[in-house]
Formats: sequence, structure tokens, C-alpha cells
Amino acid sequence: MMHKALRFPGRQRRAFSAVVDTLKHKIQGLAEKKAPQLTALRKEHGGKVLGETTVGQCIGGMRGITCMISETSLLDPMEGIRYRGRTLQDCMDQLPKAPGSKIGLPEASFWLLLTDEIPSDAEVKALNEELHKRSALPESVVKTIDSLPKDTHPMTQLSIGLLALQPTSEFGKAYRSGTLKKNEYWVYTLEDALSLVAKVPILAARIFRNVFMEGKHIPSDPSMDWAGNYAQMLGVSDDALFKDVTRMYLMLHADHEAGNVSAHTTHLVGSALSDPYYSYAAGVCGLAGPLHGLANQECLRWLKNTRQELGGKEPTVEVLTQFAKDTLASGKVIPGFGHGVLRNTDPRYVIQRQFAQDNFPNDPLVKLAEVCFQAIPPVLEATGKVKNPWPNVDALSGTCMQYFGLDQEDYYTVIFAVSRALGCTSNLVWSRMMGLPIERPKSVTLDWLSTKAAE
Ligand SMILES: CC(C)(COP(=O)(O)OP(=O)(O)OC[C@H]1O[C@@H](n2cnc3c(N)ncnc32)[C@H](O)[C@@H]1OP(=O)(O)O)[C@@H](O)C(=O)NCCC(=O)NCCS
Repeated sequence: MMHKALRFPGRQRRAFSAVVDTLKHKIQGLAEKKAPQLTALRKEHGGKVLGETTVGQCIGGMRGITCMISETSLLDPMEGIRYRGRTLQDCMDQLPKAPGSKIGLPEASFWLLLTDEIPSDAEVKALNEELHKRSALPESVVKTIDSLPKDTHPMTQLSIGLLALQPTSEFGKAYRSGTLKKNEYWVYTLEDALSLVAKVPILAARIFRNVFMEGKHIPSDPSMDWAGNYAQMLGVSDDALFKDVTRMYLMLHADHEAGNVSAHTTHLVGSALSDPYYSYAAGVCGLAGPLHGLANQECLRWLKNTRQELGGKEPTVEVLTQFAKDTLASGKVIPGFGHGVLRNTDPRYVIQRQFAQDNFPNDPLVKLAEVCFQAIPPVLEATGKVKNPWPNVDALSGTCMQYFGLDQEDYYTVIFAVSRALGCTSNLVWSRMMGLPIERPKSVTLDWLSTKAAE
């Protein structure tokens, strides 16, 4: 049941600000429009077959089994992701921007994912003010993060930081109070989503400065937009374009429907009514895998190693073809290429490539990445097994960041995680709004499969 007729509960500890009220009314209004659709699907079409599950899919990571709902975005194998029906280029064009910038603001995409509406400039400004109000880290969290060994991977630090924030969960507190009603879950989930999104750049910047900048921190600037402020707290470049590249990174990585590892993990853990801090910390652990988010770190490392081995020689398609073959022969994947669902060049790559070509086409790694774009797909195609030989989002994101001096590749997946918080938490809000149940797919043994296969 889609939860309707919600009256914002009177017992809440603090009054909502006007912008949070606006968000809640917009989300609720959208949910009321969608409620009949969900009810009809459940009641009238619950038995409709969406497709069959094969033995191959059961063994093969559940590829192509349609079995989850994500209201926030939909991925088309050829065209790429759409946020609430809008392509990423639409988002770049239509979302409000920071003064003098051409990049659609990522926090505006958060609004879009939550409400299905492009926010006005005033709404994004108010949202930013609200996020700033919620952004301070509790002292206990600061102490936890500051006490971690500096050689702890930044992604480990981020997931520890998110878990350290968990005691602040409004959902957790309200649930423990024993009086929380099911149709109020989404309201408290939204509360946590907003606070988590507000705090995650502060936490992420603290980790960066602790690990790579001798613990010298740059204060948050409450006059700035969410992503621009994150860029200034990282403090690697005063170039206004560094803020833009950060905004672009955070807008492009925000959501990729719900079946990918980080989104699915967040959704799965959230389905047990674990609060958004627990859920997203789990998602971040999934993002830390090299086949998923960590690929951007691996990709830059691969490009840097390749450049070093070139020893100053111009990269050519012939040389890069050989490098790619050597990587495959050593049993490794070529990071930044391939995808579980996409069957075309990732539009996130296309937008970053355009940005790099417009702003720093002569950067040596950008030039190298261009040659990779020509050399690697044919090598992958020639294996006969790679379903998508084209570049994905990770093939250029690190290259764009290193141009501005952010070349600590171990940190790259943290930036991805700051962005993905937008999509994963919006999805949690909608899962609670739709009253989706705890997830529990059926698993079977090999013997069971063999018996079934023989029937
Ligand atoms: C993303 C990825 C994990 C998708 O995996 P997938 O859905 O299993 O992809 P495919 O169905 O095309 O894989 C078929 C085979 O091709 C291989 N393959 C796919 N992409 C490859 C790549 N970039 N380099 C080398 N081999 C690759 C797979 O490892 C698999 O080999 P196997 O049958 O020996 O196990 C995979 O393309 C990959 O490892 N890419 C590199 C890492 C990366 O960039 N990840 C970020 C994704 S946004």
C-alpha cells in the first residue's frame, strides 16, 4: 500500500523548516498520484508474468531478472540512465546552476529524484540552507574519524563515519519510541536522508584532509552550494572549474536505478527497516568493491601505470592495444570499460569527455584516455565474451579530478559515495512511502538446480 493521508505527526521533536515542509508535501502529492497505480498493480496484475528466470540467471548474478522497484531512475541499456524520466543531458540543461556555472547542481537532482520536479532556483537555495543547518558532525563522530589510522582506506573510514552517525537517526529514535506508525516511516526516513546528505561531504572532506593533508581542515562555507562547498573543503584547487568538476561528478553519479551493488545493498538493508545510516553504510561497503565504485581508483591507477611505462612516448592506438592485451593476459579486467546493464558508451562518460575536451584537452592523461577510447573496445570485443566493450563512467572521472591536483586515487570512490548518497537515500524514502516489504528472494542448492534442470 502506498501510504496516503499522512498528517505530519505532532509529537516530533522539532518543527520542520519551510523547505522540508515543501519537500514533504511534494513527495506526498506525488505519492497520492501514484497510489492508485500501485494498488492496481498489486490487486489486478499481481499474477502477471514479467519474464522467466533461467538456470543461467540463477548462477549468473541475477542479470536481467526484473524484480525490484526504483521510482527515482531507470536505466536503458543503449541510452543510459534517466533521473525521473530525464536524461543526464536534460538534467545538465534544466537543473538550477551555481552562479557562472554550466553544471546542473547535484542537490537539485536530489530534489528531482525525491519529487519528480525540477526545483526552482529559490527552492535549491532553500534546500542548501537547510542542508547547511544539518551539516555539523557530532563531536563523537569527529573523534571516531580522527582516531582512525591514516592508512585505513578512505572508503572504510567513510563507512565507519556513517555508522558513527547512526545514533543520530530520527527514524531509529522514533521507531524505538514504539509509537511510530507505518505511514510515518517515510517522513522520518526523509529526515535522515536530508541529514545524511548534509553531513556526508563534511565527513568525506574530513577524511581527505586527515589522510592526505596532515589533518589541516578547511571550514564549511555556509554561503556555498552543497557540491561547491565540498570542493572548497577538499582544498586541492582554487580554480573555479574544480568546483564545477566536483558538481559534475556528484550530479552524474547520483543514481543508477536500484539493481547495482551499492543501491541494491542500501535497499536490501533498508527493507529490514534498518535506518538510512545503517543502510547507506552497507551500500558504501559495496561501492568499495573494484568491480563497482572502486573501478575509478583502479582506472586512474591503470592510466598512470600505462603512462609511466610509456616513459614519455606519445601514446598510440598500437601501443595501447598491446597494453590492453597484456592486462587481459595477466588475468585482470580493464577498469573503466564494460557494464552489467549498459550496452553502449556510458552517457556519464560522454558528458565528462566533453567537459575535459572543452577545458583541458591537452592534459596528458586526457590524451591517453582518448587513445584508450579508440584502442580498448576492439580488444575487449575480440575476446568474444565482453558484452559491452565501451567506456563507463569510471573511465574518465578520476582523470578529470587529477587535472586539478586531486590525484590521490584511493580517495576517488569516496567522492562517488558522496554523490550516490543522493540516489540511495531518495530510494529509501520511496521504498518506505510505498510500504515495500522486507526482501527475501529464494535461494536454492546446486542439487535442486540440477533436479529442476533435468525436468
Ligand atoms: C562492470 C563489469 C563488472 C560487468 O560485469 P559483467 O556484467 O559480468 O560483464 P560481462 O557480462 O560483459 O562479462 C563477460 C565476461 O567479460 C569480462 N569482462 C567484462 N568487462 C571486462 C573488462 N573491462 N575487462 C576485462 N574483462 C571484462 C568479464 O569479466 C566476464 O569474464 P568471465 O566470463 O571470464 O567471468 C565488468 O564489465 C568489469 O569488470 N569492468 C571493469 C570494472 C569496471 O569498470 N567497473 C565499473 C562499472 S561502472
